[in-house]
Amino acid sequence: MSQNQKALFIIFGGTGDLAYRKLYPALYKLYKENYLNENFAVIGTARREWSDDYYQEIVTDAIDDIKVSDQHAEEFASHFRYQSHNVKDTENYRTLLHLANTLDEEYEIGGNRVFYLSMSPSFFGTITSHLREEGLVTENGFNRVIIEKPFGTEYENSNELNNEILESFDEEQIYRIDHYLGKEMVQSLMTLRFGNPLIKHLWNQKFISNMQVTLAEDIGVEDRGAYYEQSGALRDMGQNHILQIVSLLLMDEPQSYHSEDVTKEKVNALKNLKLLDSQNIKDKFVRGQYTTSPDAPGILDYLSENEVNEGSIVETFIAGKVESENEQWANTPVYIRTGKRMKGKSTRVDVVFKNDESSLFDADELSENVLTIHIGPTEGLALQLNSKQVGHVFNTEPISLDYQIENSIPDDYEKLILNALQGDKTSFVHWEEVAESWRYIDAIRTAWEADPSDLFKYPVNTNGPKEAYELLEKENHHWFWE
Ligand code: BG6
Repeated sequence: MSQNQKALFIIFGGTGDLAYRKLYPALYKLYKENYLNENFAVIGTARREWSDDYYQEIVTDAIDDIKVSDQHAEEFASHFRYQSHNVKDTENYRTLLHLANTLDEEYEIGGNRVFYLSMSPSFFGTITSHLREEGLVTENGFNRVIIEKPFGTEYENSNELNNEILESFDEEQIYRIDHYLGKEMVQSLMTLRFGNPLIKHLWNQKFISNMQVTLAEDIGVEDRGAYYEQSGALRDMGQNHILQIVSLLLMDEPQSYHSEDVTKEKVNALKNLKLLDSQNIKDKFVRGQYTTSPDAPGILDYLSENEVNEGSIVETFIAGKVESENEQWANTPVYIRTGKRMKGKSTRVDVVFKNDESSLFDADELSENVLTIHIGPTEGLALQLNSKQVGHVFNTEPISLDYQIENSIPDDYEKLILNALQGDKTSFVHWEEVAESWRYIDAIRTAWEADPSDLFKYPVNTNGPKEAYELLEKENHHWFWE
């Protein structure tokens, strides 16, 4: 079977940062690998007045580091056209239709269309209804809408947003991106859990003491102050990336690898999360905001970042104890944390196993067995075990079995776009997952809003406020990555 995919991409937000940094390089890599060759075209749209030539220059510039040769980059960019577009103007969709049909014919695309919505969600409904009404949805090929986050800011408005889109496209046609689902080791979680008897049979509360999901970033909010003021860490990373990972850690084994079966189990896992309320939020969740540190001169505190409101109480760090109602996870929490301006960039899951009663060893002689899944910036696995110290004495010591992926790994967006072209939804987020995640996050948000007093400051280049450590210490646990 030929791997060549035929598609016309219409990118709303074609002049944006995401398109430049992620989409054009991802499309180029697919072109290099022959997943896209002759039968594809891209229409970039946005409000700005750009010419096709200028747009092609921008695209070429976006792939400068990864191009095979100038000529190859130019051939790729020649598939791109630009249309200045006001998403509310019906006339603009007619021009777009004409251009789309012309390109469809020129590149023999056969009616396959991918509408990529990389702009404010407030326009999603307007765009999708115009696409349908003005005939941009074809009869002879597939029509898929890829949607970028944020998908609303709470359950209510994300539900409205979803209903607006559903008036023009079916759930089957909607591909909600969470780029973490394109990460190699996140995709590997199911294989790791269900493909290894050694792990599969121990993956429950009987053997696992706790799991720790860390999404630490060393960068600050950069030039996204205005967006971040509306989101904070809870919505920016918690509702999507963290809960997606949590659902993959806690879900039961799906019947098959098909997206419907996988979604079903992920949704169940999310439904089973114990909701928090103003009574228990203080015990179970911590929020923080970064401030300056004498050890890091020149690094601003959050309040001094561009477009951040004076006296803002938006959190740039969260840590929390996530629990499941599912019996097989009774008393086995998943501790989560994420933050900006932490010690380093590290995305990882640490699965801490229970120490066994042993007549041979005292409890303090043995370290915990810990399976670490390194999601980024390096990808791999590590397993901490106890071994005999080498030499004449008979002491125990922890050793680590390490595996690091050395092959080059396709980029998150490259994988996800290819999956969307192939119609494989396993690594996309179903509406029910979005809905359940918002329910969980909204409960925390509401409890925090009722009592805004406990926002703890943490110095930049640290792993959050001391309260985030106490959260585990009071239960005789500790963060494995410090
Ligand atoms: C995005 C968030 O979804 O993920 C950003 O909006 C964050 O704030 C980014 O920096 C982190 O992604 P990655 O792939 O660099 O871990």
